[in-house]
Amino acid sequence: KINVAVFASGTGSNFEAIMEAGDLSCNIVLLICDNPGATVIQKAEKYQVPTFVFRSKDYVSKEEYEKVLVEKLKEANISWVFLAGYMRIIGPTLLEAYEGKIINIHPSLLPDFPGKDAIGQAYHARVKTTGVTVHYVDAGIDTGPIIAQEEIEVKENDTLESLEEKIHHVEHQLYPRVMKDIVKK
Ligand code: GAR
Repeated sequence: KINVAVFASGTGSNFEAIMEAGDLSCNIVLLICDNPGATVIQKAEKYQVPTFVFRSKDYVSKEEYEKVLVEKLKEANISWVFLAGYMRIIGPTLLEAYEGKIINIHPSLLPDFPGKDAIGQAYHARVKTTGVTVHYVDAGIDTGPIIAQEEIEVKENDTLESLEEKIHHVEHQLYPRVMKDIVKK
């Protein structure tokens, strides 16, 4: 089985869903986290997944920390990278080292509502339908080729919280499924 890494910055509910999903035809052998305060770090401990935590401000540039990340990925023999709530733009250093091998999950129907707080953006725009997108990462912000999308209806009585809950529920089903499919390629 090939090795994959997950990148996350915060809560890690998607990381947890991946760890709980059963056989994904790959080994999740590394968590990379850019936020020493993130609860995803405890989740990785629970599942005994080795973690590399860094702070971007400890490096002079994105290039410098991404060089270190590429080293860590190579050391762990990583074939695919899955972003799961990783809140940094991937720069050329990482993109070139893992061309076509970096996947992201985003909580909207891209190309609608890229960037931060996509769920809030969609909610406040009062759209009737939103959803979840899994896509290849390219140099843009949430712009790479789409792999899978799932629609979610926004009901009259939905609050931001209820919508967030529905979106996360869909993410937790969709991401492990896509992961299992894509690592076979
Ligand atoms: C998820 O909803 C993910 O789609 C989103 O951050 C959340 C992380 O939650 N990612 C983005 O907005 C990327 N642009 P989690 O830490 O509980 O998995």
